[in-house]
Amino acid sequence: MAESLDTALVPAHVAVIMDGNGRWAQRRGLSRSEGHRAGTRTAKAIVTRARELGVRHLTLYTFSRENWSRPKDEVALIFDLLVEYMKGELANLLDQDIRLLVLGDFDGLPFVARQSLAHVMAKTAHCRAMTLNLALNYSGREEILRASRALAQKCAAGTLEPESLDEAAFAAELYTAGQPDPDLIIRTSGELRLSNYLLFQAAYAEFYFTDTLWPDFDAAELERALADYQRRQRRFGKTGEQVAE
Ligand code: IPE
Ligand code: IPE
Ligand code: MG
Repeated sequence: MAESLDTALVPAHVAVIMDGNGRWAQRRGLSRSEGHRAGTRTAKAIVTRARELGVRHLTLYTFSRENWSRPKDEVALIFDLLVEYMKGELANLLDQDIRLLVLGDFDGLPFVARQSLAHVMAKTAHCRAMTLNLALNYSGREEILRASRALAQKCAAGTLEPESLDEAAFAAELYTAGQPDPDLIIRTSGELRLSNYLLFQAAYAEFYFTDTLWPDFDAAELERALADYQRRQRRFGKTGEQVAE
């Protein structure tokens, strides 16, 4: 482990916006597909390293709801890679005691992807060392609307009093129900935006932005991001003096 990392202060939940596959490929004169292929290799390595470092929840933004507007063949390739990853990684996930979950509109995913994801989720349901959340067909606003709809239905049915609705009850309707909010959100490729990611959960997240393109993001850079996080003072509205006490 990197010398500067304090194992006691590893963020419980790290969420990543894996961006820059296309530009990585373009710079090498390769197709965008090759960029996504390289990005998948990076994802595998980062999952393993995060688990070794003691991260308990790792969320990877894999396909946004808005990504459907990309060219058809690029979308198809991304889901082909996902299915390939599921086939190839099941044994590794089990070995590493990693549970797979999907955040997003699962029913809207291609049939083959749903099948392979469901299989890996069922097989890894008992795993406890780390939860790997893949945000797929995910939109933060859709997630909030969906939760609102579910809660409104409960109110209409008389099983929930509007007055008793609090943040915890709301969070329990999100895709991340039962998991802590992200402590650290990493975005690669130099873009400085959230792109509809974890809008409710990101309320007090720390952010780490790097110009590194996702295929080049390696274990050392993950450790740098965690070390940077550990140097921050999270205040949650208090003064710096109060937090230091
Ligand atoms: C991220 O890389 C992967 C997905 C959004 C699926 P991009 O494909 O967005 O790469 P750039 O932003 O075009 O470089
Ligand atoms: C965000 O990246 C989504 C994923 C990483 C899956 P995009 O490349 O789609 O984001 P924008 O469109 O540049 O904001
Ligand atoms: Mg992008």
